[in-house]
Amino acid sequence: MIRCTINDRPLEVPAGTTLLQAARAQGISIPTLCHREGYPAFASCMLCVVRDQKSGNLLPACSALVQDGMAIETDSEAVHEARKAALELLLSDHSGECLAPCQRTCPAHMDIPMMHHHIEAGRTREALQTVKQTIALPAVLGYICSAPCESGCRLKQVGGSLSICALKRYVAEEDLNSEAPFLPAVQTATGKKVAIIGSGPTGLAAAYYLQQEGHACTLFDKNPEPGGALRYEIPEAELPRSVLDAEIGIIARLGAEFRMNTALGQQISFEELRGQFDAIVLAAGRVKADDLGMSDLESARAGIHINSETFETSIRGVFAGGGAVRSGKMAVRSVADGKAIAASVHQYLGQGTVTRGQDQFYLRMRNMDRAELDGFIEEQKHKFNISGGEELFTRVVERDNVSPEKVGHEAGRCLHCGCLKTDTCKLRRYAEEYKANAQTYKGNKRYEVDTFTDHPLVILEAGKCIQCGLCIRITEKHEETFGLTFIGRGFDIAVGVALNENLGRGMEKTARECVAACPTGAIAMRPGVK
Ligand code: SF4
Ligand code: SF4
Ligand code: SF4
Ligand code: FES
Repeated sequence: MIRCTINDRPLEVPAGTTLLQAARAQGISIPTLCHREGYPAFASCMLCVVRDQKSGNLLPACSALVQDGMAIETDSEAVHEARKAALELLLSDHSGECLAPCQRTCPAHMDIPMMHHHIEAGRTREALQTVKQTIALPAVLGYICSAPCESGCRLKQVGGSLSICALKRYVAEEDLNSEAPFLPAVQTATGKKVAIIGSGPTGLAAAYYLQQEGHACTLFDKNPEPGGALRYEIPEAELPRSVLDAEIGIIARLGAEFRMNTALGQQISFEELRGQFDAIVLAAGRVKADDLGMSDLESARAGIHINSETFETSIRGVFAGGGAVRSGKMAVRSVADGKAIAASVHQYLGQGTVTRGQDQFYLRMRNMDRAELDGFIEEQKHKFNISGGEELFTRVVERDNVSPEKVGHEAGRCLHCGCLKTDTCKLRRYAEEYKANAQTYKGNKRYEVDTFTDHPLVILEAGKCIQCGLCIRITEKHEETFGLTFIGRGFDIAVGVALNENLGRGMEKTARECVAACPTGAIAMRPGVK
């Protein structure tokens, strides 16, 4: 037996045990990208490095064997920095975009490509459900949103950006006009009560999501009718009141209570609210702490001071967002705040504290010139079976000119620019965890179209390959006739099919296992294939 310590814990292991096996047997987790149980070590990613305090050496845990007397550390600053650097090197020539640019630029990060996917397939209800996961008032925003997502759309550069806002309004109004508009499922009542001051876009959105979690919301508003700035500042010609009323009606049907003509600091005091409610949300636009009777509330230049990650104010259990904390007037930002506040309040009501969310990592592709973009468009067309010559570049619907016959065509122009494995990509997850910066070692590598779409189940995007070799070892082990291999040399090495065969021949038996094993979006299921 061989003796060593891992994180000061003494242990004995049989000869031939790797550091990774020894650590995992102790319940110590070590991140890996190129390792897979049952396959020989490849030691290419260097994410699994640990440090031997005796020699000072950094060692790849997946392949280095435990030696007598080693004193291994797996969680020190030096180890953390080495892993971060390994990730930054892998990201330095990575050609991919984790989120579609439209979704990234939407303040609510709505899953726009998924909405388009459903509309194209004629699934209006599913499209609406996709929208309402992040946007509580889609019909209202369909009339008044300044649509920053459309400015981010890839197709803007070549003619007409997708008519995202018109499509969103279409699915939302179809739903409102249907016999049974969509009502999300509501969790069992928690017995917790939330007071929301202000029934404008932030307050309404917060109520929409909090009610779904089972918390009972009461919205207080100084005006006789709910809607805040949506009703009292935007002319009816821009936002029909029937649309506003219909979406407020959905929130009322979820159980939210509205107390009109009730201003905080006048008809009801902060102390009364504190006594009756478990949490308070300030969402009544620009207000002064003194007018609310809340002298303990810290102010900032643009409004109430909050923790920008959690929306907590200086008073425990009191949250604020929308116009109460900033001067901008973008309605979609207020609606997005409402959803984020609901998440914080829900956490607070459940565990008494709000933990700051981890900064999310989304790799961006730099702006493409026309030639690169043309290549990208061709690639996306193959991936998603998108038809279209010039008509791909032309908008066919506008907000005031939508017809059921045209929406499928418009949604069908979408290039689905995000990554096929955003939610499962290990590279992205670890980049987030280790706060890796994709720019640290960034070179001048241009975007290269190198995508294999000639397989019935999967797509291979070589630009997202980190050369972990897993797919190659899998096709070898399962004795594929052709299999996958590394093609090229030096920095230009890329995974491909042996003997230049097509991808279908390269992965006849192993496509699904390769998708599961590939740590990035390089090998992914074709859209729509389960
Ligand atoms: S493979 Fe991972 S890191 Fe690359 S674009 Fe896709 S999700 Fe982002
Ligand atoms: S083409 Fe589709 S996925 Fe790409 S940016 Fe435009 S709307 Fe988003
Ligand atoms: S394509 Fe193959 S070599 Fe490249 S990252 Fe995926 S599994 Fe690893
Ligand atoms: S080098 Fe060990 S997991 Fe990649």
